[in-house]
Amino acid sequence: MHSRIRTFGEYRAAYKRSVEEPEAFWAELARRFSWKKPWDTTLEWNFAEPSIQWFRGGVLNISENCLDRHLQERGDKVALIWEPNDPTEASQKITYRQLHERVCRMANVLHNNGVGKGDRVCIYLPMIPELPVALLACARVGAIHSVVFAGFSSRAIADRIQDAACKLVITADGMCRGAKRIPVKEVVDEALQECPTVKRVLVAKRLHLDVAMKPGRDAFLDSELRKAAQKFEAEPMDSEDPLFILYTSGSTGKPKGVVHSSGGYMVYADYTFRNVFQYEEDDVYWCTADIGWITGHSYIVYGPLLAGATSVLFEGIPTWPDGGRFWEVVDKHRVSLFYTAPTAIRALMAAGPEDVERYKLSSLRVLGTVGEPINEEAWEWYHHYVGKGRCPIVDTWWQTETGGILISPLAGITPLKAGFATLPLPGVQPVLLDAEGTELAGRGVEGNLCIKFPWPGMLRTTWGDHERCRQTYFAPYPGYYFTGDGARRDEEGHYRIIGRVDDVINVSGHRFGTAEIENAINEHEYIAESAVVGYPHPIKGQGIWAYVICTPRAPGEEQLQAEVDELVSKLIGRIAKPDVVQVVPGLPKTRSGKIMRRILRKIAAGETDNFGDTSTLLDPEIVDTIKEGALVKL
Ligand code: WTA
Repeated sequence: MHSRIRTFGEYRAAYKRSVEEPEAFWAELARRFSWKKPWDTTLEWNFAEPSIQWFRGGVLNISENCLDRHLQERGDKVALIWEPNDPTEASQKITYRQLHERVCRMANVLHNNGVGKGDRVCIYLPMIPELPVALLACARVGAIHSVVFAGFSSRAIADRIQDAACKLVITADGMCRGAKRIPVKEVVDEALQECPTVKRVLVAKRLHLDVAMKPGRDAFLDSELRKAAQKFEAEPMDSEDPLFILYTSGSTGKPKGVVHSSGGYMVYADYTFRNVFQYEEDDVYWCTADIGWITGHSYIVYGPLLAGATSVLFEGIPTWPDGGRFWEVVDKHRVSLFYTAPTAIRALMAAGPEDVERYKLSSLRVLGTVGEPINEEAWEWYHHYVGKGRCPIVDTWWQTETGGILISPLAGITPLKAGFATLPLPGVQPVLLDAEGTELAGRGVEGNLCIKFPWPGMLRTTWGDHERCRQTYFAPYPGYYFTGDGARRDEEGHYRIIGRVDDVINVSGHRFGTAEIENAINEHEYIAESAVVGYPHPIKGQGIWAYVICTPRAPGEEQLQAEVDELVSKLIGRIAKPDVVQVVPGLPKTRSGKIMRRILRKIAAGETDNFGDTSTLLDPEIVDTIKEGALVKL
């Protein structure tokens, strides 16, 4: 049985089988789980509608597979290690049995508060144990969770709650990140002024703040939990019933609610986790992402728990109290598998090697990265200073939409190359297409990265708007799933991800659409128009550069930047603030009124010539004017 690959030869064999007999391949893997009823058909699909169904007719509950399935064999094994923000506060270890009980209690609380199968629950929580418990409790009652990263603004929360018509919100009184304290409940209260569908709010106590509680609507989670029974029969779910919604940015309009299924997602999260990291029963695994992003969903909660692993849940940040915090946690909990983002590596690299050299890091066995392309320098630093030259680095490429990792080395098995995500996992059939949609055959080619066959973890739809899902992912190249990324296949057939080919900016591994940020900036009363582009940033990967056209009464540039910061923080979140705001007299537009972003990107990147053909511009002179203004900011 090939559920766990151990050699490169086995990888090749598994890959071949997954292409030749995909249904048999995945069906065998799915049999590892407990199903309340076996599935009728393994796969039915077409990418035209699109309609994708894995394990149709199968009935299961993913929370049972994460918890109950392990109780007999590893009930007393630690499932979660919670490491708080402040290193002087005690960490917590939660066994599978304890987690099972906590999830059952929380499921009862949800049930007692009127949440049932198919209802949407918004979760806006810091990285505390209540967060994974809330996800699993939603899954247990059959509710669809929609986690909103606890750095988004009240406006962004309201948009997401309204889109999914959530019935209940789970939040906290406050949160701490580094030296900062954030009044989370206040942010939620503001959002809820515009969310009539929300009937109940459950509040976890993290900072024991004296928060305002709205009678009839708000309740403290701890008192609800005390009243709840410790058993909860898991709701039978169809394999294709939605498990969760997670909002992500695209090149147009508002963020989309990506919908993931129950059965296929489960099979995929488990298989990719165990194989990419080459997980062993006694590993301690730590993914530093936030559960507010897909990486946390699949590789802090579902993947590791399905595999019966010990997963670290970290509340803090890499740079507080100092740049050694990650490494301190690695030594303290003897972490063996460590998964982080290039932006964190670059930030720690910039702080110098002293902070990492203070720690042994002898427990580490495998390192991983995710979220953005990793530059060679950061890769080498990670390999040398963290992995001490002996740990393989898995550069994992995937997306919110893909549910799990698609292209990545298998740790210790696939030959590594800095900056390369290397080879597709079994079941994944990537192709590179040219602009006309023709598949580029052979090696040494570069094009738009698409996938031509379904895998179990892929998105099924976008919430409330299936047509948008079709338009965004399946219409650009009929017959293919389009990723939005460009990639290169080198002479050895290894993939290198180049970056987005659409108007999506990846800032510290977080996705934003340029239109989304422009819409926020345009709300400023003295800004007439704006154009936002990404530019190379030494720590964040990409920074945000905003070109704005002002009306006559606008304040000076410095004041304007402060006001734009505030506006974007309010409408989206602090993480989307532009790094640079440049006031310009006009934008480079074609005669048909289209902004030539290519030019703006080049200017922000510090290029002074090679702007290509500018003859189609309405006012070619504007390029020089913008360039001069940009030079003083670079
Ligand atoms: C980028 C995060 C290069 C890519 C899991 C993708 C990467 C977007 C890598 C998805 C990687 C992710 N190398 N680029 N290893 N991993 N990306 O939805 O542009 O937050 O399309 O999912 O991040 O970001 P998302």
